[in-house]
Amino acid sequence: MVAENPRLVIFAHPMDIQLNDKEKEIIDKVAQAAQELGLESYLVGGFVRDKILGRRTKDADIVCVGDGIKLAKAVAQKFRPIPEVNYFKNFGTAHIHSSDFDIEFVGARKESYQRHSRKPEVEPGTLEDDQNRRDFTINALAISLNKNDFGKLLDPFNGVQHLEEKIIITPLEPDRTFSDDPLRMMRAIRFATQLNFKIADEVFESVKRNAERIKIISQERITDELNKIILANKPSIGFDLLYKSGLLKIIFPKMVDLAGAEFIEGKGHKDNFYHTLQVLDNISENTDDLWLRWAAILHDIAKPATKKFEEGHGWTFHGHEVVGGRMVPKIFAQLKLPLNEKMKQVKKLVELHLRPISLTKENITDSAIRRLLFDAGEDFEALMMLCEADITSKNKYKVRRYLENFQLVREHCREVEEKDQIRNWQPPIDGTRIMELFNLKPSREVGLLKGALKDAILDGEVANNYDAAYEFLLSKAKEIGVVK
Ligand code: CTP
Repeated sequence: MVAENPRLVIFAHPMDIQLNDKEKEIIDKVAQAAQELGLESYLVGGFVRDKILGRRTKDADIVCVGDGIKLAKAVAQKFRPIPEVNYFKNFGTAHIHSSDFDIEFVGARKESYQRHSRKPEVEPGTLEDDQNRRDFTINALAISLNKNDFGKLLDPFNGVQHLEEKIIITPLEPDRTFSDDPLRMMRAIRFATQLNFKIADEVFESVKRNAERIKIISQERITDELNKIILANKPSIGFDLLYKSGLLKIIFPKMVDLAGAEFIEGKGHKDNFYHTLQVLDNISENTDDLWLRWAAILHDIAKPATKKFEEGHGWTFHGHEVVGGRMVPKIFAQLKLPLNEKMKQVKKLVELHLRPISLTKENITDSAIRRLLFDAGEDFEALMMLCEADITSKNKYKVRRYLENFQLVREHCREVEEKDQIRNWQPPIDGTRIMELFNLKPSREVGLLKGALKDAILDGEVANNYDAAYEFLLSKAKEIGVVK
């Protein structure tokens, strides 16, 4: 017999919610535990929203009228093995993780944030109070888990209608909702981007009015929302809204510097902000990797800093890839993004993003190809993906031609790689050995010798073995006066 999909029948609305076995089990256990404790409990927030939209869910929010931590502990006792309950007494919130599913518990509350701090004042409240203090009508939907009206949808702000109309509206007057928690301005933009919804005009006006208040929010929380926007299918929607609301100017001013086109002697350059957004959307069609998307965001970040108008020539951005690469660690630090190998990867991609274009010309030597393979190493594919995304011409013929050119570069690289295996190659003598051989401390000279050896081998002037490398280093060391 085929088991029927468990369903939760929602009263007052002609639709059922599809639950998987795990979700059904969780809901039954919560309902049971709440009943035993004599507490009212409800499913709320993102779980209800996403179920109605038919999106994937990975966590459920439960609100109970009373002590949320007590309910969480009682629910935990019903699972085998008994999961750990993490809780914050001050906030009255608790969390259980059981077989890849998170359950968040909170006691219904009235809440208002003090104006210049992030510390909330929390007071117990009714379900209605709790729905009032939520961010958007589509997130304020609740489904009863109580015996007398199990499955009843409580939708005081027409959240379901707004889901159908694809619109983001606050339950209360928006200035109030955003002032309670200014991060919600970014959440509005994040949901608009992820769900492809429109932010109601009066709500967006309020974001513009309150944008400055984002400054009281921690950088980690801001960046968390920013990354969620970046990981959406079409991240440009979010960046455009961040820009137009004034939030981007506050949270990431360097990106706003890319906006606009200057004209001298009738010659303009492209608007690098919208170009960047196009590159970001393009790369997002091919990868969900957050860091490749960051590389797209940052690839031209130094264009404003390097921009020049050269008489008779027009606009130039010489060296923007090098200056841009140098800006990456600073931007990562400011945004509290990790300063690890991911940052190094983004930096490398920014630095190298013009290299494959220079290899689309005719008569490219194998040694130029070897240098690119060596410099890009394991990020070669990512680099090619970035370069292809960087083609934003409106002219279809040009786009096809550029893509074909990159295809030729890829082929040339494949041939050379097959022959010479450069991508994971290291010269036969490394920096540490150079220091030992010539009795040097870490210094400019070590870098110089290392670079010269690498180039000489990649150019085919020196054979790729220890003895030949040693010979070469010895003569080079004499030349620069390191040995007599
Ligand atoms: N919430 C809120 N204000 C915030 C954060 C959250 O009102 N600044 C409320 C909303 O009702 C939200 C619920 O808390 O639906 C859960 O928040 P969270 O888990 O952060 O978001 P979800 O809506 O569940 O969406 P997602 O899982 O996609 O982040």
